[in-house]
Amino acid sequence: MIDFKDQVAVVTGAGRGLGRLYALDLARRGASVVVNDLGGTMRGEGADSKVADEVVAEIRDAGGTAVASYVSVDSPEGGEAIVQTAVEHFGRLDAVISNAGIFNSIAFDEMTPAQWRQMLAVHLDGGFYLSQPAFKVMKKQGYGRFVFISSSGGMFGQHLEAHYGAAKAGLMGLSNIIALEGADHGILSNTVLPFGFSRMVTETVDSNTLENLGLMNLIGPEKVVPIVTYLASRACESSHENYSACAGRYARVFVGLGDGWLPDTEFAATADDIAANFTQVTGTEPFTIPGNIYEELFSVVGRLGVDLSGGATGDE
Ligand SMILES: NC(=O)c1ccc[n+]([C@@H]2O[C@H](COP(=O)([O-])OP(=O)(O)OC[C@H]3O[C@@H](n4cnc5c(N)ncnc54)[C@H](O)[C@@H]3O)[C@@H](O)[C@H]2O)c1
Repeated sequence: MIDFKDQVAVVTGAGRGLGRLYALDLARRGASVVVNDLGGTMRGEGADSKVADEVVAEIRDAGGTAVASYVSVDSPEGGEAIVQTAVEHFGRLDAVISNAGIFNSIAFDEMTPAQWRQMLAVHLDGGFYLSQPAFKVMKKQGYGRFVFISSSGGMFGQHLEAHYGAAKAGLMGLSNIIALEGADHGILSNTVLPFGFSRMVTETVDSNTLENLGLMNLIGPEKVVPIVTYLASRACESSHENYSACAGRYARVFVGLGDGWLPDTEFAATADDIAANFTQVTGTEPFTIPGNIYEELFSVVGRLGVDLSGGATGDE
């Protein structure tokens, strides 16, 4: 059984919905858990410390160890305070589940800069504010696991969610870099793109529609928990990846790079050439999945007969 004996986890947004279930499972498996939750509405208004307190009580009642944190993830001080709560209470920090989130639906041409900023502040800025101090603790320990909760809305698109989709896609970029910079320090980072029945679903989709489609049972939030727990655990060796958890189907989500159209070096392509070769430009077979920006560059110049790889590293 995967266990978190002697390990410490932070789960943000752990007072409700999916975050609560992640916190309960980690605690059940032996982790000491920082249950962070601001306790506001789905749209990000207000605060309520009871929300985190109730989950802490639930964990303690079941014999587990947990402490509450009520700060918002949307400031550097908030992120730092959450990490400090872990270190001060439990002496270390092994796993961070960056899950806190808000949601609303606004047409792109009606979205105000304030609405845009609020969404990015919680999801994307919050991910950074939390992960940077956590990374420093993990680097000293030589061990750490990050799980950023992203969304298919960011990866694949979702109407009325320009702010949400951009923030969630941004977390994949953040996770990629943490994975690269953490690799030498035992730090792994992945994202999860969940589908889980919560108030984010009930307050957005009409309840009759949900009932009629039978979706409530299909996307039970407990079905997301196993992959989050696995990625947060010692057993996980995956890093720099994204995983979708949808209705009991667990799958890797990746960005592939097509072979494309590559005329020789002497050829200066025009827009008309792009038009003429667009089928090849947009082709998806064959494809590769570069591990970083240099792998793409080296591969293309390699196809052109140039070898740039000697001595070049990801740090340059
Ligand atoms: N439910 C889904 O199908 C789904 C799909 C894709 C992504 N997600 C993501 O999963 C995560 C959890 O969503 P959920 O469905 O459980 O929603 P939820 O609203 O039930 O839970 C989110 C929790 O985050 C807390 N929170 C919000 N802003 C915060 C802040 N600034 N600081 C600290 N806590 C804050 C809220 O108080 C709430 O308890 C979110 O990041 C969401 O975007 C959910």
